[in-house]
Amino acid sequence: MILRINIGAFVLSPELGSLVESIKGDRLFLRSTMSVHEGGSKGAIEYLGTNSTPDLLIIETTAQDDALFEELGALADVCAPGTRVIIVGTENDVNLFKTLIDQGISQYFVGVPNEEELKAAISDAFVDKQQSEKCKVIAVAGIRGGVGSSVIAHNVATEIADLTKDDVIVVDLDINYGTGALNFNIQPQNTIVDALAQAGSLDEVLLNRFLEKCTENVSLLASPGSLSTGMEISALNLEPLINMVRQMASYVVLDLPHVWNSWVQDVLVDADETILVGTPDLYNLRDGKNIIEFLSPHRGVDAPVRVVLNRQGQIKKGEIKDKEFREVFALTPSKSIPYDPDTFSVAMSNGEPINTKSKAGMAITELAEIVSGKSKQEATKGIGKAKEKGGFLNSLFKKK
Ligand SMILES: Nc1ncnc2c1ncn2[C@@H]1O[C@H](COP(=O)(O)OP(=O)(O)OP(=O)(O)O)[C@@H](O)[C@H]1O
Ligand SMILES: [Mg+2]
Repeated sequence: MILRINIGAFVLSPELGSLVESIKGDRLFLRSTMSVHEGGSKGAIEYLGTNSTPDLLIIETTAQDDALFEELGALADVCAPGTRVIIVGTENDVNLFKTLIDQGISQYFVGVPNEEELKAAISDAFVDKQQSEKCKVIAVAGIRGGVGSSVIAHNVATEIADLTKDDVIVVDLDINYGTGALNFNIQPQNTIVDALAQAGSLDEVLLNRFLEKCTENVSLLASPGSLSTGMEISALNLEPLINMVRQMASYVVLDLPHVWNSWVQDVLVDADETILVGTPDLYNLRDGKNIIEFLSPHRGVDAPVRVVLNRQGQIKKGEIKDKEFREVFALTPSKSIPYDPDTFSVAMSNGEPINTKSKAGMAITELAEIVSGKSKQEATKGIGKAKEKGGFLNSLFKKK
């Protein structure tokens, strides 16, 4: 999960200041902005008098009892509704804690918390935001060109939909050479080029018109597969598009072209699951190592990239063993998919999914289980409803 929020911390102690600084680099905040100011609650009130309110305020205060509530009242007067507030105070009183939580304060810490406690409090404060972003984004890229990343992306999408019965949107990001429309056997009326052209004014209704329904649960934002669109993807036009599709499905599968530029890097860092597909040869060993070394520090230990070794058994002599990939990549490949030209060419010619009974098909099903986090068994169980949370001021105003 990556939060896209502005955080303003108003600290009194250097400990809290350096704690906030130290969590800045965490993947949870990769797309968030954080600023640390001095002055505690008084500093916050002064600042908010002339600046817009961040989504989250972290306020350090020494005020107790009535003085604390007076401060919070003054704060409520200057900050926007919906703002989440975490207080770091000094008074150790369970009743005070309950009253504050009741009034819409997201968390109250007695003294400076540790890194884990603060991160948990922040993600907890945005549980409803996370819920609206409950969509899982799965990016699939080839370590090198032509390794099978697109066909794997499309089949993983189909398998996830089968497994979960949830909606899945495939976005073919390869404008010039994309194969999504061919593999799902559709003739797209509209494509990603239309969606990118409208990036500034996209809404769900419009985007829905650009999607092609492939199966009951799988839709495709197809690529034109054409050289003459005059459209190029950039971070600027892609971000609003991805933000919109992630509201429209439970899973979004991004089929990336084999290029290395800043928007591709952003997608690979940002996705909930990043799958790198390679073939077991020396070129993929070298280039995969480079890509993993680039991505790993950005993704952190909680969301390592996944490697899939495809076309295993194709090279009769000199195929590089899994063990060597494990050592050089410093991670265990998630799946190996055998070379199976008959199965893949039948699927390609008919524009249909890979036969799920083939060994390659079974490996793809297992990959879909890994990245969706759902096994067939689990998919049949009920899913609890997430609790709703309001902002600090919403509930303060409600009480007035
Ligand atoms: N395991 C496999 N066995 C046999 N053929 C395969 C296998 N995996 C993929 N292929 C075939 O390899 C070809 C290239 O696949 P695909 O277009 O998915 O690769 P890609 O990595 O997306 O290429 P590009 O770099 O052009 O985007 C296709 O014809 C596909 O059917
Ligand atoms: Mg491709």
